[in-house]
Amino acid sequence: MERYIINGGLPLKGEVEISGAKNAAVAMIPAALLVDGVCRIENMPHISDTDMLLTIISELGAKVRLVNHSTVEIDCTQVSFHDAPFDLMRKIRASYYLIGAMLGRFGVSKTTMPGGCNFGERPIDQHIKGMEALGAEVTVEHGFVYAVATDGHLHGSKVYLDKVSVGATMNIILASVLASGRTIIENAAKEPHIVDLANFLNAMGADVRGAGTDTIKVYGVEKLHGGTYAVIPDQIEAGTYMVAAAATGGEVLIKNIIPKHLECISDKLRETGTIVQMYEDSVLVRGNDNLRRISVKTMPYPGFPTDMQPQMATLLCLANGTSVITEGIYDNRFKYAHELRKMGANIRVDGRVCIIEGCQRLTGAQVMACDLRAGAAMVIAGLCAEGQTQVEDIHYIERGYEEFVSKLRNLGADIRIADYPEDMCFPERNVAAV
Ligand code: EPU
Repeated sequence: MERYIINGGLPLKGEVEISGAKNAAVAMIPAALLVDGVCRIENMPHISDTDMLLTIISELGAKVRLVNHSTVEIDCTQVSFHDAPFDLMRKIRASYYLIGAMLGRFGVSKTTMPGGCNFGERPIDQHIKGMEALGAEVTVEHGFVYAVATDGHLHGSKVYLDKVSVGATMNIILASVLASGRTIIENAAKEPHIVDLANFLNAMGADVRGAGTDTIKVYGVEKLHGGTYAVIPDQIEAGTYMVAAAATGGEVLIKNIIPKHLECISDKLRETGTIVQMYEDSVLVRGNDNLRRISVKTMPYPGFPTDMQPQMATLLCLANGTSVITEGIYDNRFKYAHELRKMGANIRVDGRVCIIEGCQRLTGAQVMACDLRAGAAMVIAGLCAEGQTQVEDIHYIERGYEEFVSKLRNLGADIRIADYPEDMCFPERNVAAV
């Protein structure tokens, strides 16, 4: 029942350090199942999605040691095939990587259908198509996905993805690194976390080539060995602070970033009149109180990321004129528009298109985090709004943003976590204490 209480109107100022990329880390933890030896993963974001995956692989017999806040060692030498905690698998999207990783390790996998944010239908048919091409028989029954390599282990093959899918691309890579022969994935996704997973696996002895292009070739190897790898910085976390700086009219230096990964976001922000200065591994964003309207269409990388769409919509609520956002990935990712309307936004949705008439100001209200990025967007709205905003269902936000509240407080935001109804008794409960 925790929620954020935000007193808006303060421009964000200062410096913030970006954590490791969620969508890379959530694939590397299952990937450790394929490794004979100790994987030391640095820059691991401390968020609930990674915590859940670490619990799942511990239950499969992995030894997991937290070396420090952002470094974890995983030793899967002793894992064996048995039921893992299905209740946790159901809660997260990335549990689908256990299909590829368990198939690669044991020749068999049993998982639940994945959970994750609800943006309408999110099928896994392309994952299944990939596993079948590699020689697995896959059955979906009673909410479970069973996969068995029909002759004990997988064989390299050619897979053409009907849809560009991040998850299917990474899952097929996982399944094929220990398969015999060569696997070719055509129409592969090109997101930075795909390159990062390939680099991680290659550091452990795999032979994955072409990640970052739409054709990936995986040459199967006999075994993977232990090693050390650092997760790349989170593109979406960085983008979220960039938009928050712009929306509050602040000035923030965002550190530990890869400029290339932020090009599409920087470009759109500059179109609004926001100042964006890129340095070698940081970016300075300075807000402008005369924001211009823009059009945005979300697309697979290197296009504008769907995971930045709600945050950008919030910024555009404060721009002059009419902005249009077209969602190119999901059928239903504008549920948060209803929440922004409670804050005075003039925003309407027609299928995959959202039309925003800019307004002078947003006003604080009680709103819901409909999902992870929509939740971040509500926080940005609260930071800009006049008066107090309460954001409920913050467990979604904690799935993907490490230390969100303390990072924002360091930038001067007036935000705290409160319990309901306990905060009635302790209204000034300190964030550090929770
Ligand atoms: N799709 C299919 N069949 C499939 C797989 C995907 O039709 O077998 C469709 C989806 O329904 C969607 C499109 O293809 O319309 C793209 O989906 P994709 O598979 O790329 O998404 P995902 O793997 O389920 C990952 C991220 C999401 C991010 C998307 C797109 C993880 C754990 N999740 O999801 O991240 O939105 O890629 O970039 O990596 C987030 O971090 O907030 C988040 C939602």
